[in-house]
Amino acid sequence: MKCVRSALFILVSVTVTFAASAQTVRFDSARKLWFLSTRDTSYVLGINEQNEMQHVYWGKRIAAENDFAPAHLASAYGFETREGRTAEEYPAWGGMRYGEPCLKVTFPDGNRDLVLKFDSQKIGSDILEITLKDISYGVFVTLRYRVFTAFDVIEKSVRVDNRTKEPIVVESAQSGVWHLPSGQHYRLSYLHGYWAGETRLAQEPIDPGKKILESRRGNTSGQANPWFAIDAGGAADEEHGKVWFGALGWSGNWKLVIEDTPYDQVRVVGGFNDFDFSYPLKPGESLNTPLFYGGYTELGFGDASRLMHSFEREAILPARSAGHLRPILYNSWEATEFNVDEAGQKALADKAARIGVELFVMDDGWFGQRNDDHAGLGDWYVNPQKFPNGLGPLIQYVKSKGMKFGLWVEPEMVNPNSNLYRKHPDWVINFSGRPRTEGRNQLVLNLARDDVKEYLLATLVKLLRENDIDFLKWDMNRHFSEPGWPAVAPADERKLWVNYVLNLYDIIDQLRAKYPKLEIESCSGGGGRIDLGILKRVEQAWTSDNTDAFDRLTIQDGFTHAYAPKLMMDWVTDVPNMNGRSTPLKFRFLAAMMGSMGIGANLNRWSDEDFALASKMAAYYKTIRATVQEGDLYRLASPHEGELTASQYVSRDGRQSVLFAFLRSQQFLRPAPTISLRGLDPNANYRVISIDDKLIDKADVLSGAYVMNHGLNFNLTGDFDSTSITLERVK
Ligand code: DGJ
Repeated sequence: MKCVRSALFILVSVTVTFAASAQTVRFDSARKLWFLSTRDTSYVLGINEQNEMQHVYWGKRIAAENDFAPAHLASAYGFETREGRTAEEYPAWGGMRYGEPCLKVTFPDGNRDLVLKFDSQKIGSDILEITLKDISYGVFVTLRYRVFTAFDVIEKSVRVDNRTKEPIVVESAQSGVWHLPSGQHYRLSYLHGYWAGETRLAQEPIDPGKKILESRRGNTSGQANPWFAIDAGGAADEEHGKVWFGALGWSGNWKLVIEDTPYDQVRVVGGFNDFDFSYPLKPGESLNTPLFYGGYTELGFGDASRLMHSFEREAILPARSAGHLRPILYNSWEATEFNVDEAGQKALADKAARIGVELFVMDDGWFGQRNDDHAGLGDWYVNPQKFPNGLGPLIQYVKSKGMKFGLWVEPEMVNPNSNLYRKHPDWVINFSGRPRTEGRNQLVLNLARDDVKEYLLATLVKLLRENDIDFLKWDMNRHFSEPGWPAVAPADERKLWVNYVLNLYDIIDQLRAKYPKLEIESCSGGGGRIDLGILKRVEQAWTSDNTDAFDRLTIQDGFTHAYAPKLMMDWVTDVPNMNGRSTPLKFRFLAAMMGSMGIGANLNRWSDEDFALASKMAAYYKTIRATVQEGDLYRLASPHEGELTASQYVSRDGRQSVLFAFLRSQQFLRPAPTISLRGLDPNANYRVISIDDKLIDKADVLSGAYVMNHGLNFNLTGDFDSTSITLERVK
């Protein structure tokens, strides 16, 4: 699947009519229609009689392209114009338009009217660029499409070029609109939450008006995630039904507007959040919007997720991570918090190695005067009391145990009680003469400033040069407030929202280029920075600070609707956990195996029995992780719907499948529901291997038809019971 990355990008600026074929991007000059084709979907857009861009179709693949008529404006009606009732592909705010606009601009002469007409096009093997131009000003807007055929995903983004002789101010720049077929009774699925309760799935009918999902917090945020799915008739389930889905790749302020117009047109507009947005463009300057991805399936939410998962693994995550399995990780945070030192970390490393851990990560507390969360952020030198000989001895020790070494950093932040802040109080985001509100006793460095960016890059390079570090856990533990940038002209201050993120990306890109073997985990106080923008630059994401295994089933279920299990970091930690809940160690291990597994417990408190179970579980995970991390996920029983949660993974070659099942609480002696597996070959036989004695169906070998139709029964009883089986295809 590597071809996805190295696709041909030669652009041709001619208007060509190709013979109908399996071509990915095709233009029909007679009808002025473009056809973007993926394996199973078609996306069609055209130029209408006003020379404006119009959406025509997005859904199941239609090979009979001749059936499509040219784009044609709807009729005017009552107080509505023709444009207002037409599915416009990229409506700017101008003329007589009242829907959510994609672009809003103010010109220096006070004019705020922008009307875009088709200007030119370029077609590549899997990309299309359509340039629009305002009816009088030299503002050019290029709609860019890229087709990811194998995953039924299309990427949209826009570049706004100021080719006038004056500066202009962009007040809203969206990446595009996804239009659904006109109609009613659609249902929206989205992910919401807060610290320790991220990526929880919500579903609600789409009614007339707008629903806004957004972040105004400077980063992606755990409060809402830039992903959506919409199903027809509110009738889709895991296996059936039309589902349109999409996600934004942006780790700053973002916005998704799900709009149901008065004319039953459901559309999703997404891009930069226009709240407090103002991006001046001098003559010759341009602005690129975030990438906005969309896909379609008629095989329900399960298939929508699997398409996203394989798309992320093959086309989003850093190229090196494709096919590479995530190691079992140990993290010191819940064991020691800030109380790290060489002897203590070595003791934990010893124990982690005994279990079979492959990557040992020292979390917060190793630098500056970081004894609690009141001091030290910004001072990225090794604390000499805790590590008198630097990090070298610990790193060597970890490596001598056969593990890689990882380190926690929070580069974007500074404690007022730090040398860095005392030296550069002007480097933080702030408004002149106004309070600097602290979150977790820290302020945000203004990464939009190039001097701050260069300083952070140099600091991280020094850290990596001086220490043999394989992995960084990159944290961010507060959101923006008082988002001022006093060093620039007031008119430029709000560029901060965008430039901060671009510079963050640039730092990570440069680090990765300089240290190609470096791996990174994205963390923001848990799952606060998970989106397709940051995921291009990191191997995995910290899912949530909530490591209560029972809560995690819900958080992880939501997560997998949008993001691949491989990049979902799950730790086994100690009990009682959040909510004061205690779950058995086995339950905690199996819950953590549903993604990339880690251990975050205080191993100093574990008994021999705990270690024995942990070693067994780690060994088991190593036999199934390729299937979990690289395979197809089937959510069989949702934690939202009953006592039982069950998920199954099938390897891409179909040779192995693994099932995890969890029972919350048994009542009234009720037996656990039968679990019917999916995604197997009905005609093949599978050897069934159970990790325990919970499986009631005792046969060693069962057919795919049997396990998918008759299903399997498990003796799950009491509270927080759990099990796992693997099925190996018999040759
Ligand atoms: C928040 C993260 O989510 C935790 O895992 C831990 O790294 C702390 N920050 C450390 O301050």
